[in-house]
Amino acid sequence: MGHDDRVSAHRGCLLGLFALASCGPIEPVQPPGFADAIALPTAVDLDPDPRIIEVELVARPTSLSLVPGGPTAMYGFDGAVPGPLIEARVGDRLVVHFRNELPEPTTVHWHGIRVPNAMDGVPEHTQPPVPPGGSFEYRFELPDEGLYWYHPHVRSAPQVGAGLYGAIVVRSVDEPAIDETVLVLSDVAVGEDGALLPADTGGDLATLFGREGNVLLVNGRVRPTIRARAGVPLRLRVVNAAISRYFQLALGSLPFRVIGGDAGFFASPRDVSRPVLTPGQRLDLVVVPRGTPGQALTLRWIPYDRGYGSTEFRDPEDLLTLLLERGPDAVVPIPPAPSRTFTPIDGSGASALEVELTRNDRDGRLALGFDGIPDWESTPYPARLGEVQRWTFRNTLDWAHPIHLHGFFFQPLDAAGRPLGHWADTIDVPVDGEASFLVRWDERPGLWMIHCHVLDHADAGMMGMVELSR
Ligand code: C2O
Ligand code: CU
Repeated sequence: MGHDDRVSAHRGCLLGLFALASCGPIEPVQPPGFADAIALPTAVDLDPDPRIIEVELVARPTSLSLVPGGPTAMYGFDGAVPGPLIEARVGDRLVVHFRNELPEPTTVHWHGIRVPNAMDGVPEHTQPPVPPGGSFEYRFELPDEGLYWYHPHVRSAPQVGAGLYGAIVVRSVDEPAIDETVLVLSDVAVGEDGALLPADTGGDLATLFGREGNVLLVNGRVRPTIRARAGVPLRLRVVNAAISRYFQLALGSLPFRVIGGDAGFFASPRDVSRPVLTPGQRLDLVVVPRGTPGQALTLRWIPYDRGYGSTEFRDPEDLLTLLLERGPDAVVPIPPAPSRTFTPIDGSGASALEVELTRNDRDGRLALGFDGIPDWESTPYPARLGEVQRWTFRNTLDWAHPIHLHGFFFQPLDAAGRPLGHWADTIDVPVDGEASFLVRWDERPGLWMIHCHVLDHADAGMMGMVELSR
């Protein structure tokens, strides 16, 4: 195991009320029901063993009311968008009885979780696609704290874009004693009549850009309002489940403390005014809302430059309103994040892989890829158990590409090749730029996917495989 430094918890307060009793007189709890307007459905645990979470999960067509013009026919896990929130603790086992009631094949991929290869949900490579009416049983341990998510891996852009995604929270034993709210951010492309726009709307140009929906969703809702007490820290655990849209967030001019990311708590939290999440990424944010009772604060999407057309003539958009209630007389300080250490991977003997992100059309068909090769023609990159690799992605295309590695966390490096100090599973490769990371292939041989998480790009070929052998 390569991540003991991240998961080994410094034992502090326990969860819930006990934390209040044992950790001093702060009152960190928001009014009950303060976030009801964005409540996620929760998965029903069928197993009485507290360390086993056994759920049924059904992918099926559903309908949402998003615009006045009419209902939107979508897909949802258990008919919900997002699907049910799965809540667990580090070390729990998850058993998912998955059933496909869609009119097309699908799978479930557990984004960010270090699953056994056969549980990774990649059609053809790790399992056969689940046909309409078919089922599949996913079973694995949840080895790491953090916020993860699940989504299909067949026709990813159309299926995720239609609403198939959900969040998984894996809690450590020393979570900070403040309220947390999971925010699943996404967008959906609908016409005035409410109908979902066809997934190929706009043709190749739209695929190259990466389609962004015109309706922004927070936990499946359009511009919801929640309540918050002024001066009381609020922990927002955010995942970007949009197929292409980057989310740059602002809450007035209030600073966000970033206490974690893809792989749980950071060793060193940082304060950021406008956190950015590429598709696939997660951020663990703490913000202290300030203002007078009755005042509304708005969490906004701010245009982020991910290439041509992503910021020009575009305005910020409202995501979520916080309606302030009277708080304590003194602002409650943000409690310290649980202590974590970061141990850099030794990259001195690393094998270097350099990958150019490319477009090389095939017979008039748009084809994106790695080094000129779309996934359907590619052969896996070899890796050996125990090997350390340094991957560098170069991007000379007109749009940024968030590259996601399945099944492993990696350590992003700065331009000088030094570790940035956290683990991640998704890294942004900006326009005319590059991004590098170190990965240690320490366990679980098999075929592991690596791809752009702008899902239109992935579907157009920007995917590859790593064959990890003994
Ligand atoms: Cu969330 Cu293969 O990705
Ligand atoms: Cu891309």
